[in-house]
Amino acid sequence: MEEKNKQAQEAYRPQFHYTAREHIINDPNGLVYYEGEYHLMHQYNVHNQIYWGHGVSRDLLHWKRLPPALAPDEIGQIWSGSAVVDWNNTSGLQEGEEKILAALFTYNEHVDVRQSQGLAYSCDRGRSWRKYKNNPVLIPEEENGKRKDFRDPKVFWYEPLSCWIMVLACFDQVEFYRSPNLIQWEFSGKFGQGQGSHEGVWECPDLFEMPVEGEKEETRWVLTVSINNGAPAGGTGMQYFIGEFNGRTFRNENPPEQVLWMDYGKDFYAGVTWNDIPEEDKRRLMIGWSDNWLYRDALPTAPFKGQLSFVRELYLKKTGEGLRIFQQPVRELENCRNLKLRKEKHVLKAGEEEKLPFRFSALDFSCELETPEPGRGKAEIRLSSGEKEFTRIGYDFQKEALYVDRRYSGLNPHEAFPGVYEAPVKGGEGKIDLRILIDVSQIEIFAKQGERVMTNLFFPENYDHGYEISLHAEGAPGILAEYEAWEILITLD
Ligand code: FRU
Repeated sequence: MEEKNKQAQEAYRPQFHYTAREHIINDPNGLVYYEGEYHLMHQYNVHNQIYWGHGVSRDLLHWKRLPPALAPDEIGQIWSGSAVVDWNNTSGLQEGEEKILAALFTYNEHVDVRQSQGLAYSCDRGRSWRKYKNNPVLIPEEENGKRKDFRDPKVFWYEPLSCWIMVLACFDQVEFYRSPNLIQWEFSGKFGQGQGSHEGVWECPDLFEMPVEGEKEETRWVLTVSINNGAPAGGTGMQYFIGEFNGRTFRNENPPEQVLWMDYGKDFYAGVTWNDIPEEDKRRLMIGWSDNWLYRDALPTAPFKGQLSFVRELYLKKTGEGLRIFQQPVRELENCRNLKLRKEKHVLKAGEEEKLPFRFSALDFSCELETPEPGRGKAEIRLSSGEKEFTRIGYDFQKEALYVDRRYSGLNPHEAFPGVYEAPVKGGEGKIDLRILIDVSQIEIFAKQGERVMTNLFFPENYDHGYEISLHAEGAPGILAEYEAWEILITLD
């Protein structure tokens, strides 16, 4: 019996989203591209010892798991951080021809739980890592004796000043540091107090410049910050700011009280982007941890716990409300799918169910839904694994809201798990488009070309034969629908 349960639980393992073979994953770390490989490192909790786990991929779809990159040592546990290629050997740590990969990470120190930043490097394309001999490289200035929240360094090269920049999460703000060599760091500025949401501690920042879509010369800096409480769906989530970075500090161009959320689902946290994506690609690629600190340890999976989101392309676009981040699954996914069904525009009659004639466990589903009476009606996509087990994904044209209801999805492993989560989405001209990635126990929804995103986990009890999907309409004289369903062919070993 126990063995059977074990296997059943293993089956929650997503097919194309990254998981570790066993033990606990949280934040993605050390995202860097070098010599044809995307490195994906992550918080890796092995019996309460915190490592950086490691995977590599050549196409962002198939990941090869490598041994952990960084292990805890006499200074402390290895908490979150980032990695760069030291192209010009500014650190002097390069030994042969091969450029070094340098990782800046947080030590959650054994003594006094102080937090400080450490440096590690690899001379062999990330296959083995050495800690810098004089770690830590950045310690907090004493503030009332101690300072605990001083972590999650995001480091990148800043061309205008020819220096490295580090953004650190420091309780209720971020701090900026700069360095000529990744070793000596100097404080340059801070941002955040009185800005955006402050219902929880700030964690895992990222900072990058993006072109404004459709404008030749226009760019903006985007600062993303994860916040450990107070997200729209409850618990942990991610906010972002748009503005300017001058090498010392960030200026928000929106009103300080305005909060922009990356994702309205309950399970998207600690998202960060890749460093050193080649010039000819230029995409800003983000991956997050599809989970919530409210219930990380309660998830009903074994021997693995924790899964990442799918990799997303980010865009900065003008909308009626100002500039906003749009997200899309990386386009590479289109090389690994098989069309199961395409249905041209037709009427979904109110009260009737339209069921797709196949079962699946990993699907890329897109649809366009249109109400003949703008401001009225509802369209719903139901994902079911039995009569009583279903997840509802819908758009309410009256409320102008996208929703996900996972109350009847299956297991509710924690009291904070079940719920109906909503995102405001304007259904301009009575139309809405959705792209939904479904993968065993994770659903990512990209609405309106990715202007709104919702990521949620779910744990059906009867998933053995896969899922069924059906469409429903309510109110209005029916809803016009067209859709495409693609089976996803990737399987991670
Ligand atoms: C975010 C976080 C980080 C920290 C890490 C520890 O999820 O709390 O701030 O570095 O997780 O695992």
